[in-house]
Amino acid sequence: MRTADPMTIASLPDEGEFRVRLHRSGRMHDGWLDLAIDLDGVSIGRIQTFVPPHQELPPGVFEVGIGLREEMRGKGYGREALALLTGWLFEHADAVRVEAPTDPENVPMRTVFDRVGWKQVGTLEDLGREWVVYAITRERSRALSDSGSSARSPRT
Ligand SMILES: CC(C)(COP(=O)(O)OP(=O)(O)OC[C@H]1O[C@@H](n2cnc3c(N)ncnc32)[C@H](O)[C@@H]1OP(=O)(O)O)[C@@H](O)C(=O)NCCC(=O)NCCS
Repeated sequence: MRTADPMTIASLPDEGEFRVRLHRSGRMHDGWLDLAIDLDGVSIGRIQTFVPPHQELPPGVFEVGIGLREEMRGKGYGREALALLTGWLFEHADAVRVEAPTDPENVPMRTVFDRVGWKQVGTLEDLGREWVVYAITRERSRALSDSGSSARSPRT
C-alpha cells in the first residue's frame, strides 16, 4: 500500500484500521472481504470487496479493488482473479451487481474490465479526483458464462 502508485489507490488507509481489516481477511464482513491472490502457494497480490467512504451500497451491490505485485502484472492473472471473485460473489454472496472505480489513465485495469465483460457505467468525482466506474450485473455475468465467453484463464 505504501509503495503503490497513487493512481491505483484512492488514499493510504489508516494503519490501525488496515490491521483490523487484515485480521479478518478471508471472511466477508459488512461488504468487506480481503483476499490474497495465490499462484501455486505464493501470494502475488490482493483482491477485495469494500464499502467506499461515506457511502452505503444497496443490498447485493459490491465494490471491488485489486492489485498485483509489479512483476506479476500483464500475465492475465488480474483478469482471472477478477473473473473468479465476481463469479463467486454472484453465486455465493447474493450479489446482483459488482462494480469498481478506476483512474481514467489506468489502461491495464480498464482493459481487464473490457476482457471480462464489464461495462463502463459512469464517472464520478471523489477524493478530489475523477474516476471511471465499471460494473457487471448478475444477468450479464450468467449470459456471458452461458455463452462460454467469460475469460478465466491466464495467458501462457
Ligand atoms: C490492473 C491489474 C490488476 C491488471 O491485472 P493484470 O494481470 O496486469 O492484467 P492482465 O494481464 O489480465 O491484462 C492487462 C491488459 O492490459 C493491457 N495493457 C497493460 N498495460 C497496458 C498499457 N500501458 N497500454 C495498453 N494496454 C496495456 C495488456 O496487454 C492486457 O491486455 P490483453 O488482455 O489484450 O493482453 C494489474 O496490472 C495491477 O495490479 N496494477 C497495479 C494496481 C492497479 O492498478 N490496480 C487497480 C486499481 S483500480
